Amino acid sequence: MTIFIDTHTHLDFENYNEDREKVIQRALGKNVVALITIGTNLETSRRAVELAEKYTPVYAAVGIHPNDSAACSDEDLVQIEKLAANPKVVAIGEVGLDYYRDHASPIRQQEVFSEQIAIAHKLKKPLIIHNRDAHEDTLELVCEYNAGQVGGVFHSFSGDEAYLEKILLENFHISFTGNLTYKNSVSAALIGQVPLDRLLLETDSPFLAPVPMRGKRNEPAFIVYTAAKIAGLIGIDVETLGRVTTENAARLFKIEI
Ligand code: NI
Repeated sequence: MTIFIDTHTHLDFENYNEDREKVIQRALGKNVVALITIGTNLETSRRAVELAEKYTPVYAAVGIHPNDSAACSDEDLVQIEKLAANPKVVAIGEVGLDYYRDHASPIRQQEVFSEQIAIAHKLKKPLIIHNRDAHEDTLELVCEYNAGQVGGVFHSFSGDEAYLEKILLENFHISFTGNLTYKNSVSAALIGQVPLDRLLLETDSPFLAPVPMRGKRNEPAFIVYTAAKIAGLIGIDVETLGRVTTENAARLFKIEI
């Protein structure tokens, strides 16, 4: 049987308000054995934990996204740490730096990111890192605060081969979203360089639906399309890819399958 873990979805988003339960059922129907729903601020992190408590196969990550870091208060970070202690919270995320958008100054983003690396250390939980157009600074903070000790994943990886090597050296995993299925995807050319034991699968749903669903609302069940594409690019069967990436995610996030 081919099984998967969707390591990055935003099940709490209002895009799923009409059919959230069916979305989860469809994922289970495609043998997605676990789903990690990701917070982006205090409110979505709370909702992520609620979903994880309600549905057995759903796990949560809690954190302040760089684009939400301007509005993040010290008290928010205290609350994030409290939420993170919940046994169904398997990671701190998504956190990181986003210089593509200017919702928060780089300095503020860096502060909020480094404080959340500290939370990850304190609770010994891995990081789910969002890095957009901020390669150098993200890596610098990861090194400075020894984030490799807790490890985690650079989700929706967008660096080049040299950057990939540095991230791997820092003990991080890599995942790609459905945009890997798009024509002329840079990530598609890079996938062969990722050691199989560091690769995770994700949808980042409701965003970035893979071909042939491109343009539609994405959902965790669509992970099968990204998985098929990646398996083809690497030259292994999808069952093996599903098994290995599931083992990787289970090990990293301490999820029992
Ligand atoms: Ni995301």
